[in-house]
Amino acid sequence: MIRRRNLLLIALLFFTLFILTTNYLLIILPSSENEVRKEITTEEKIYQELEKLPIQYKQRPLIEEKTTDIFLENIRKTDKKLESLNLEQLWREANSWVSKTQLLNLSSPSLGKVFFALKNAKIIKSDVDTRGTQLKLLLTLEGDQQVVFKPKWYEKERIIEGPVYAGKDRYGSEIIGFYLSVILKRPLTPASLQRDYLIPLLKEITELVYMESVIFVKKEDPVCEDQNSFINGAVIFNIKASLSNYRSPWQRTYKKGKKAHWQEFSDAYCKTVKEKLPKKRVYDLIDTSIFDFLIQNGDRHHYETFDDTVIWLDNGKGLGNPNVHHIDILAPLYQCCILRRETWKALLGLTGGELRKKLESMPDINNFITEDHLKAIEARLLIIFATIEYCKHYKEADHYLL
Ligand SMILES: *[C@@H]1O[C@H](CO)[C@@H](O)[C@H](O)[C@H]1NC(C)=O
Repeated sequence: MIRRRNLLLIALLFFTLFILTTNYLLIILPSSENEVRKEITTEEKIYQELEKLPIQYKQRPLIEEKTTDIFLENIRKTDKKLESLNLEQLWREANSWVSKTQLLNLSSPSLGKVFFALKNAKIIKSDVDTRGTQLKLLLTLEGDQQVVFKPKWYEKERIIEGPVYAGKDRYGSEIIGFYLSVILKRPLTPASLQRDYLIPLLKEITELVYMESVIFVKKEDPVCEDQNSFINGAVIFNIKASLSNYRSPWQRTYKKGKKAHWQEFSDAYCKTVKEKLPKKRVYDLIDTSIFDFLIQNGDRHHYETFDDTVIWLDNGKGLGNPNVHHIDILAPLYQCCILRRETWKALLGLTGGELRKKLESMPDINNFITEDHLKAIEARLLIIFATIEYCKHYKEADHYLL
């Protein structure tokens, strides 16, 4: 009798225990799982750093940086006469500047002549440039220099909604990219300038290509024309050098809802990149991400190198939406948390409104950039500093090589 009661008690005990455990699993566990899910993302951590950003990032730099001033001085050195220029010799000189540290010589007094010729030299030939997906022209200027022409598709106020790679190329983004490369003291973008009045110049080229581009232009999407039916756009110096092309380790999937490896395994991803690529390349790609983030050029699925240095070609997807900062363009920086000392110094030279001041001193800038975009670029500089602060706080100190 007693034994039976004991058995009953034991059964009851087990039953109670079972109920309690089940309750625990059903109630307690999911809520702790929620807590795991609620752990803040890298993006949120960066924005937390932004809230308490040290004052040094908001004050004017102590040392004045002269590179941009020297560049501006040099591009003014021209007597604005095509006849006085030996174009062949000039293009030869411009091509001789190309090296693994620069695509043009910022301290050369010939810059003024080169820029004047880029804007004004007669177009002797034009082809539709078949590289890439968007209409652009490959023009040959007198003296045998090729330039890429990217037409203006949008008014500068137009806001491009959607994913970071949405819309057509913005010609102003190419030019701002070039200016930014000068300001960052990394002239790794070929000279890119505004050139106007293409239509009358196009009349000088073969009828066929002219017709082809007009058909492209008119049917698909009207290119913005000013009241005289001239087209504006960017001319981009086509360097005569052999380039290599690589897939970016931070390439997007371009499919809605499908994540790339770097998006899925954010914390561990840089380790795999470092195993595959030489250190210099990783540093180059981090510099590139900073450059791209400032203008929001989020479409760098491939990148080009010259003599093993990453150069900044095809920067047309920036200046899309000044109200959005796609922070994942900075993934190479916040996943690797390393940065070149020179880049760090160059960024520190742009604090407290200096970046904007330098941008505004560049030619034609008001033609293709709005106040909102200028403000956005300044705001993104602070986000870059916040990302560096994030790296200092969240990653092991020895990962952080400044
Ligand atoms: C750049 O220009 C300066 C000034 O003319 C010159 O001294 C220097 O050698 C040039 N550098 C290159 C790489 O051409």
